[in-house]
Amino acid sequence: MTTKLSELPSPLRLSDLTDGVGYRVPSLNLSQPNLFTRLGSLGELIVKVPSDRGRTDFAKFVKRGVTDPEDIRANEELERFENLEQALHRFSSFAITRASFGDDVAHFLLVHRLQLARLEAAGLVSLPQTRFVVLGCSRWLFGMYLTPAIVQERIRGIRLFDVVEPMEGVFLSQYSHLKSQLKGKLQPLVDSKISIHIDWNIQNFIWQEATERLYYVDSKPTTMASKFSVDHNLSSLRETFLA
Ligand SMILES: Nc1ncnc2c1ncn2[C@@H]1O[C@H](COP(=O)(O)OP(=O)(O)OP(=O)(O)O)[C@@H](O)[C@H]1O
Ligand SMILES: [Mg+2]
Repeated sequence: MTTKLSELPSPLRLSDLTDGVGYRVPSLNLSQPNLFTRLGSLGELIVKVPSDRGRTDFAKFVKRGVTDPEDIRANEELERFENLEQALHRFSSFAITRASFGDDVAHFLLVHRLQLARLEAAGLVSLPQTRFVVLGCSRWLFGMYLTPAIVQERIRGIRLFDVVEPMEGVFLSQYSHLKSQLKGKLQPLVDSKISIHIDWNIQNFIWQEATERLYYVDSKPTTMASKFSVDHNLSSLRETFLA
């Protein structure tokens, strides 16, 4: 196994990145707003890498398929680690990841690529352009830090979270004109078969007024989310946006 890293052009555009490839970055400054993902930026692009908890939970619930009463759903066939070979037939760009960085890294990227593919196929919500890569940077005394990474275009707009008055869960008056448009976008998504693949936290949705598009920006599969909190978020979303 060789850990070959390509250099990134500057300025960086998403179209410069190829799924599955490893890239050297000078440094990665990441914050961790939630549990499973650390976020940062590469120029204008958003970078998401698994936190320590994200890695251990992914290994437990997705790779090893451990089940829990809090599960939203089980792994689908192509998500199973045992079926890595079949998943690579569908997304062959990750064969290079497997050869260069090993099965676990290739599997992590594939499962996230499958999540994007299923949401794209449903065509019910807009999705940021995304690449699934490996990033590497040298850390003084600690050698090379390598991580699977999801790199996305940054969506400009307003999060549904910011449309709502936090204490009362009602539309802020300056956004009340968006109510019927947002309901029109959200209702078909909530009613669809893909609903089980959405983490309904309203921080994950961004409304872009200029294009009248609703974006869903969270990239993780719902095998990583807790049923309790997703159900709770969905019922709050119904009360505020679908009533
Ligand atoms: N492509 C994007 N464009 C604009 N904002 C984004 C984008 N991706 C993420 N964000 C913002 O960053 C927040 C956190 O990102 P994301 O939802 O992917 O991870 P997370 O929910 O913090 O992670 P996890 O639940 O896995 O611990 C989002 O709720 C959103 O507000
Ligand atoms: Mg999120």
